[in-house]
Amino acid sequence: MKLESLKDLYLEQLKDLYSAETQLVEALPKMAEAASARDLRQGFNEHLRQTQEHVRRLERIFQDLGDSPKGHTCEGMKGLVKEGEEMIKMRGEPSVIDAGLIAAAQRVEHYEIAGYGTVRTYAELLGRSEHVALLEKTLQEEEDTDEKLTQLAESHVNEEALVR
Ligand SMILES: [Fe+2]
Ligand SMILES: [Fe+2]
Repeated sequence: MKLESLKDLYLEQLKDLYSAETQLVEALPKMAEAASARDLRQGFNEHLRQTQEHVRRLERIFQDLGDSPKGHTCEGMKGLVKEGEEMIKMRGEPSVIDAGLIAAAQRVEHYEIAGYGTVRTYAELLGRSEHVALLEKTLQEEEDTDEKLTQLAESHVNEEALVR
């Protein structure tokens, strides 16, 4: 892929995000299954539904651009998912593992927040206001998810891990 313009880079970054989101659609059910706390499991399942919508929003953008989202692998997300899988395989105290799952999931959300902030800004510069609206929605959901994970950790999960 040749990068000759900001639009080329926009497309490249969108493909990276598409790969990241599709990897997460596979990973989140496993994270949910590994979680012991009911609210954490529900949180992962809720974010799975949002993530499926994130994939659809990106597909709409690609359709509008007349391009295919496929053919690129997000290596960053591959690494983050691998770290999440390592946590899933851990044995030990359920509350400690839950705290570890939150730690892994928040890395994922921060990674996505960085990516969506970038493409949102590119979409603004390129005058793609419909894309800006879609990307903003997803960015907001990633930020809300990160905040919810912090709340879960601070409201009880960390405390339960501490008293083990
Ligand atoms: Fe997402
Ligand atoms: Fe996310």
